[in-house]
Amino acid sequence: MLILPEAIDASQMYKLLIGAVTPRPIAWVSSMSQSGQVNLAPFSFFTVASANPPVLCFNPLYRGAREEKDTLANIREQNEFVVNTVSYRDLEVMNLSCHDLPPGHNEFEYANVASEASSKVAPPRVANSVASFECRLNQIVDLGDQALSGHLVLGDVVAVHVQDSAIEDYRIDSDQLDAIGRMAGTDYTLTRERVQLKR
Ligand SMILES: Cc1cc2nc3c(=O)[nH]c(=O)nc-3n(C[C@H](O)[C@H](O)[C@H](O)COP(=O)(O)O)c2cc1C
Repeated sequence: MLILPEAIDASQMYKLLIGAVTPRPIAWVSSMSQSGQVNLAPFSFFTVASANPPVLCFNPLYRGAREEKDTLANIREQNEFVVNTVSYRDLEVMNLSCHDLPPGHNEFEYANVASEASSKVAPPRVANSVASFECRLNQIVDLGDQALSGHLVLGDVVAVHVQDSAIEDYRIDSDQLDAIGRMAGTDYTLTRERVQLKR
């Protein structure tokens, strides 16, 4: 079947993309408004953009036309955020934290997620995440102004926290990370079954 983007609507294209580009890792992003309101939300349009310099990127989509999510508005205001990892044990609270609370409401409190002060940026990090990456905004690439349009947020990593027991020689223990991946709809995948292949 050949599908041309111009022949389908945005929600059909969205379904195609999230169904085919799987599994997606999840960035659990904490941010803060200029007035100090803290926000936490998951984003699976997420990856590493560069290792040297270290840059992470994720993508808050518009809800409706020109309707920014709080995370994006905070980062535009304050230029800082933290990308926290999500382990399987966090699945339900991570899902709670995606609740669309009005601006100014704190998802750490709503989802009962413990926070801890960051070292170099103002937004707090998730205390129990196996790894947290403190980021300063590098740039935002605005990809459109309609519902579901992306706003690629690139952040320079300025500090990394890793739980002591989960790291050896800079290698993260995959069992302790116990990452989950986002599939389409309500599906998630675990990362407990792995295969090894030498290059
Ligand atoms: C696992 C998961 C992944 C998500 N990924 C994205 C994403 O990549 N981009 C996006 O705009 N929304 C994504 N969402 C929805 C946002 O988390 C949701 O809109 C949230 O309310 C945004 O919060 P904010 O307005 O406080 O920034 C995702 C939700 C879940 C549960």
